[in-house]
Amino acid sequence: MASAETDQTEALFSLKSYHVSEELGFILPDPLVQLPPYYQPWMDIALRIPELAQSHELRSRINKMPLLSSNFLQKHKELRLAHLALSMMTMGYVWEEGEKDTVEILPRSLAVPYWEVSQRLGLPPIITHADAVLANWKRKDPDGPFNMENLELLVSLPGGESARGFFLVTLLVELAGVPAVKNIPTVINGVRCGDTEAVARGLEIISRSIEDMTDALKLMQVHVDPSVFYGIMRIYLSGWKDNPCMPKGLVYEGVQTAPMRYSGGSAAQSSLLHCFDELLGVKHEPKSASFLIYMRDYMPPLHKKLINDISLQPSLRSFVQQQDRKDLNNVFDLCVKKLLALRSYHINVVSRFITVPAARARQLRDQNHNSDGEMISRAPTALEERGTGGSSIMSFLKTVRDQTKDTLLPEAMGSL
Ligand code: HEM
Repeated sequence: MASAETDQTEALFSLKSYHVSEELGFILPDPLVQLPPYYQPWMDIALRIPELAQSHELRSRINKMPLLSSNFLQKHKELRLAHLALSMMTMGYVWEEGEKDTVEILPRSLAVPYWEVSQRLGLPPIITHADAVLANWKRKDPDGPFNMENLELLVSLPGGESARGFFLVTLLVELAGVPAVKNIPTVINGVRCGDTEAVARGLEIISRSIEDMTDALKLMQVHVDPSVFYGIMRIYLSGWKDNPCMPKGLVYEGVQTAPMRYSGGSAAQSSLLHCFDELLGVKHEPKSASFLIYMRDYMPPLHKKLINDISLQPSLRSFVQQQDRKDLNNVFDLCVKKLLALRSYHINVVSRFITVPAARARQLRDQNHNSDGEMISRAPTALEERGTGGSSIMSFLKTVRDQTKDTLLPEAMGSL
């Protein structure tokens, strides 16, 4: 017979059933680095995407690829590595020749298994944050630290060291957010049981973790060159939804005859900020909210479910207001301020990596510059004003930041 104590425990909110790791949060722990030998034809290509794209051989190699059955992929980690490899190949296939020479059809030998693997994982058949970042790492020294020096990508896109830096720095931002994720249940259960000490303790850890995420994001400028990001890498992350150079979308041959549209990869698909927004009660303005909610369809289904379940909990913000305790108010506001600071710094990053190079590219074009040597002028014009996820960048990001500010408690808002 279940005791009262067990009933109480069962009622508590926990991360157990959401595919969230104790040590690594949303990051896939120790991803596989190899698929069963049958899938070698995929890996032979996937591991050479940057060089094959540069020599313009990637499409022809993929066109000759045999059609393999996805049935021999069994474990979750096998499916994740397969999705990563097939995603990277797809992005390479579509964008190898830039925005002027895209394709309308993804060949059957890639499209069919990609579709099947995507269905089994509940992910879309396009590159996602869950592929390129969460499932795309290994330690060089398996016993060594989880840092830039000791981390390596499994599969990469064109962009050399900057591509490595972009994905791995984003991974380190995810890692920095782990204490925050782990303390979400502490806060939720504290609210449910009226335990203000627990709520304050959880919020304190969450605020520090968000600050660490901002510090990790600062590594972007150390490891990524804005011209390489803008001129080479960015197109490979873009999708075929609301993209003027692929207005119809992409036909997945052997899956369905009508083209399908999917948004490209973006860290807007990271579950971290979605969880924080739901926990703290950040209310986004309808247009930004609908983009952000749509991005949840590009997350592993259990991570999306976690965000949704957090949104169904009693309101933390109202709880804090009802307690009328200065220390609790302060630590709640501290969390919101750290989230605001992260979003403000992120806007800075976007300006450095997109707005500034986009202005330079426009200037070069206007001057009719002979720009063969200028990497940024080869960047796709369709993406100048847009994020790879398809949003019109700056107004979206600023609205999201301002709505975060509006979550501060009334007293603190006056002091900003
Ligand atoms: C060079 C680095 C980066 C650039 C250029 C960049 C660019 C962008 C852009 C253009 C958007 C608009 C949405 C879209 O259409 O994709 C966006 C959204 C977003 N990005 Fe980044 N990003 C970078 C790094 C990161 C990192 C490392 C994170 C952390 C996980 C992150 C988290 C987010 C989030 C959460 C959003 C949704 C808006 C929000 O909730 O504030 N970004 N990013």
